[in-house]
Amino acid sequence: MKALILVGGFGTRLRPLTLSVPKPLVDFANKPMILHQIEALKAVGVTEVVLAINYQPEVMLNFLKEFEKKLEIKITCSQETEPLGTAGPLALARDKLIDDSGEPFFVLNSDVISEYPLKQMIEFHRGRGGEASIMVTKVDEPSKYGVVVMEETTGKVEKFVEKPKNFVGNKINAGIYLLNPSVLDRIELKPTSIEKEVFPEIAAENKLFAMVLPGFWMDIGQPKDYITGLRLYLDFLQKNSSSKLATGSNIIGNVLVHEGAKIGDGCLIGPDVAIGPGCVIEPGVRLSRCTVMRGVRIKKHACISSSIIGWHSTVGRWARVENMTILGEDVHVADEVYSNGAVVLPHKEIKSSIVNPEIVM
Ligand code: GDD
Ligand code: MG
Repeated sequence: MKALILVGGFGTRLRPLTLSVPKPLVDFANKPMILHQIEALKAVGVTEVVLAINYQPEVMLNFLKEFEKKLEIKITCSQETEPLGTAGPLALARDKLIDDSGEPFFVLNSDVISEYPLKQMIEFHRGRGGEASIMVTKVDEPSKYGVVVMEETTGKVEKFVEKPKNFVGNKINAGIYLLNPSVLDRIELKPTSIEKEVFPEIAAENKLFAMVLPGFWMDIGQPKDYITGLRLYLDFLQKNSSSKLATGSNIIGNVLVHEGAKIGDGCLIGPDVAIGPGCVIEPGVRLSRCTVMRGVRIKKHACISSSIIGWHSTVGRWARVENMTILGEDVHVADEVYSNGAVVLPHKEIKSSIVNPEIVM
């Protein structure tokens, strides 16, 4: 089986992290987002993943080379010269996706995280006999997604409305599809939206089916959702492979600590924290609901909550970093500084407190 991951877009909503790497390479729970997906695809027998990309393909391919070997999976790129939307890239990659087997292929949005119940999806797709199957999940705020109205018992999609202005329903497109090769005959090689142009057409012919995704789901393409996504993911780990989580008297709730990280005495860590490789957390530090990426140093008695600390940054002694502060790569926060929701571009130094959320350039 094959799969295509929609990697395009500049990931502007996840800046400043995406100023250093393309969005799919931003770490989530100590692993680039896209690796969570590639591993899940490999687990259900996918042998080739095509990355549909319109920017920095070399960066992605160089990075993924190592995993191609480790995971024994072929990873190739299909590069657009202009953004082709969410369907156009499928037409561009047509020759890579079709083979003699006639098997369906997966398509994934690159910024969604879930349990990836792909095996169930294959069974669902076979069982329904549709031309395309999509996963859906319930959310509280459906207007920022593609909303799906379906027949409860069969899953037959009656309506697909992308980003509806008025309430249509609360089941939304989770960005994980299994498509028959014939879907490619519906897509021309030009900027096209799978959500606005392709799915409504297949639904009108009664050939689009939706499976309600079991377990958690999150689009982690925005900082707030990224932090929520980490909570859901760690909760999933707790239920399914709790040995991966940290334990000890200094740990509260679900915490993921890379084996190459050092944690000093008297720290209090958790809930919902991920600490990456090579991090040094000095004594007396308090961390909650945050991600601390590779190579970060948090100095004594600093306190961080609801924030993302980008690669190789440092946070000074007694500093307080909170409320969706996002530090880009290699940012340095001075001792005793307070950051309330600062979004800091890579390689900057924060010498005085930032009392109200602002972008530091
Ligand atoms: N190759 C390529 N080219 N990829 C693209 C392009 C493009 O021109 N435009 C967007 N993408 C990729 C993005 O990188 C992302 O992986 C995926 O297509 C979806 O784009 P987003 O920009 O993240 O869309 P969204 O989050 O607003 O909405 C989509 O995802 C929701 C679930 O998170 C839609 O599919 C919604 O229907 C869905 O509910
Ligand atoms: Mg998205």
